[in-house]
Amino acid sequence: MYSSKIAGIGHYVPDNVVTNDDLSKMMDTSDEWITERTGIKERRWIDPKSDDTPSTMGTKAARIAIENAGITPDDIDFIIFATLSPDYYFPGPGVMVQDQLGIREVGALDVRNQCSGFVYSLSIADQFIKTGMYENILIVGAENHSGGLERSTRGRGVTVIFGDGAGAVVVQRNEEKGSGILSTHLHSEGKHAKELALEGPSTLRWVPEIIEANDPEDSSYYPYMNGNFVFKHAVTRFMEVIGEALMTNGYKPEDISLMIPHQANLRISQFVQKKLGLSDDQVYNNIMRYGNTTAASIPLAMSEAWQEGKIQSGDLLCLAAFGSGFTWASALIRW
Ligand code: ACO
Repeated sequence: MYSSKIAGIGHYVPDNVVTNDDLSKMMDTSDEWITERTGIKERRWIDPKSDDTPSTMGTKAARIAIENAGITPDDIDFIIFATLSPDYYFPGPGVMVQDQLGIREVGALDVRNQCSGFVYSLSIADQFIKTGMYENILIVGAENHSGGLERSTRGRGVTVIFGDGAGAVVVQRNEEKGSGILSTHLHSEGKHAKELALEGPSTLRWVPEIIEANDPEDSSYYPYMNGNFVFKHAVTRFMEVIGEALMTNGYKPEDISLMIPHQANLRISQFVQKKLGLSDDQVYNNIMRYGNTTAASIPLAMSEAWQEGKIQSGDLLCLAAFGSGFTWASALIRW
């Protein structure tokens, strides 16, 4: 049986920087509140006049990942695109990346697992490579949150957190023994689906219904998050799923070279770091600069960490994510 490895990484973020002070001009919030509660200082929001969409940003990140892997788009056997904010309601953006990169008529799969979407995608790619079905799989995680956020005090609990961006990796058949993706673990608990959700427009709440209701109090077409509830579940599930990854492979927290947690809130990352007894050098965070970019967050952080020389051959990398669904997941990788 084959194993798989990450052969190339890339990321792309829109140019438009939105600081906490910029947000405080749109709603009742402050740099102090956002920094203290979330660690975020600024995020990127797509300039609506630009051609940035989840698929075009994803394509830009993918080009870099493919080049870093030392291959060309012709070598890609399968595409996986993770997002909660697709260009269109349907079709999903996987096929758009196939077109934009001029990739052969290979399969393109769209993954709907929000903040865990990238780790879920990694697990899918790993299984396809292990069975020998594919050799080079492109995974893209990209989000345009800004277009759908409520830019007023009513939406501040959600709006200040989210940012736009894209990250991509090439997952490749691995010839080396003992390296590559060692394990992935995936979980869900659907009874909490409504605690972090965007209800409409959807089949439960179609656009005509929303228009007909014409209700200024209606906020169902903006994302809803029960922040405290999500926070408490996030810290518990992060600990569990990281523990599961370490135990499966016979490792302890001190064996981790770098943990890249989904960038949901700096306080969540710091809580997990403290509980696991990890040093600052063992954890990578970039939420300060980008906010929560959901499916893009882990590949975006991994790409920056790699560029900064913080991921070296032989390192043990731990990825972990938690988010809407609820879904959560981890991956352990020997680089
Ligand atoms: N600026 C100023 N005040 C605010 C803001 C804001 N942006 N947002 C909320 N407040 C106020 C609230 O109204 C509340 O005021 P009150 O006490 O008078 O009622 C007060 O601040 C405290 O609000 P909380 O919601 O209790 O603040 P908390 O410390 O929990 O922080 C946050 C909120 C940042 C959302 C936090 O709960 C969090 O990070 N939750 C988890 C996020 C997460 O992990 N998401 C999962 C991934 S996302 C995905 O999957 C799509």
